[in-house]
Amino acid sequence: MDGGDGISLEQRLGERAARLEATLSELLPESAAPYATVIAAMRYASLGGGKRLRPFLVVESAALFDVSESQALRAGAAVEMVHCYSLVHDDLPTMDDSDLRRGRATTHKRFDEAVAILAGDGLLTEAFTVLADPATHPDAGVRIELVGALAAASGKDGMVGGQMIDISPVRHGLDLAGITTLQALKTGALIGFSAQAGGILGQADADARQRLAGYAADLGLCFQIVDDLLDVTSTAEDLGKPAGQDAEMGKATFVGMLGIEGARAEAARLAESAAERLAPFGARGETLRQLSRFVLERSN
Ligand code: IPE
Ligand code: IPE
Ligand code: MG
Ligand code: MG
Ligand code: MG
Repeated sequence: MDGGDGISLEQRLGERAARLEATLSELLPESAAPYATVIAAMRYASLGGGKRLRPFLVVESAALFDVSESQALRAGAAVEMVHCYSLVHDDLPTMDDSDLRRGRATTHKRFDEAVAILAGDGLLTEAFTVLADPATHPDAGVRIELVGALAAASGKDGMVGGQMIDISPVRHGLDLAGITTLQALKTGALIGFSAQAGGILGQADADARQRLAGYAADLGLCFQIVDDLLDVTSTAEDLGKPAGQDAEMGKATFVGMLGIEGARAEAARLAESAAERLAPFGARGETLRQLSRFVLERSN
């Protein structure tokens, strides 16, 4: 996959991931403070792994509006911190009880449960410290919009609400519409923020923001259907996290509802629809269009 400048999408993802890693490491420096353990756990949970899909979306959507990469990387680091916190808490024994994440021991296994809870809390709050800093954008109005949008995507009407449905008994009897709502909250909201952040940083017009929101809605759902498919079709070794958990926990998923082939077809339809929504951006939207194919075809 080549965006016309000779750089493949995989190369571009790798380069952006390396810069994001450096940004995160600078934002979370090692410490000799009496509370250094929580900082070590925050670094463990956020550095050295992951596809960095959400920061990539921030940086690429920001590039549509000529936002500086250093500003975009800070906003990308903020959403990655929230994402990593959600994974640390998702893996806890009281939630999915997972021992493996990104090919390594989960944070509560490497440290302990109390430290993992605090590390999650620390990552969540640090994200807002980063967004509120003038280095993220000189205009306070833009910073407030970013803070509000990330809070909304992360909280009760976003990721937390989705996780709540996911662990509640109603989860087992959801129909297709119910599963779609669950996924839009659990996974879609943070992916939606990531695509919106570029428009916020770039102070884009309402039309452009609308297009990005539509793209992110399709991409987010496609992403979660593929997550559910991989849970059934892949192995812990390839995924770097446990496989087969959804069925084990009796969860209604797109795969359970539509079958493997049906879920694949729906994911493909969504990836195509996401790409089409970017047509008005012309050649500038090419990387984000390619990303929808990457999300569909990914193997971990
Ligand atoms: C995993 O997200 C959790 C879901 C929302 C499905 P990712 O698949 O983006 O995980 P990392 O960041 O690459 O580890
Ligand atoms: C969790 O969904 C998504 C979050 C908001 C953390 P899953 O439980 O399906 O994520 P994985 O499969 O453990 O990555
Ligand atoms: Mg879960
Ligand atoms: Mg899980
Ligand atoms: Mg999953």
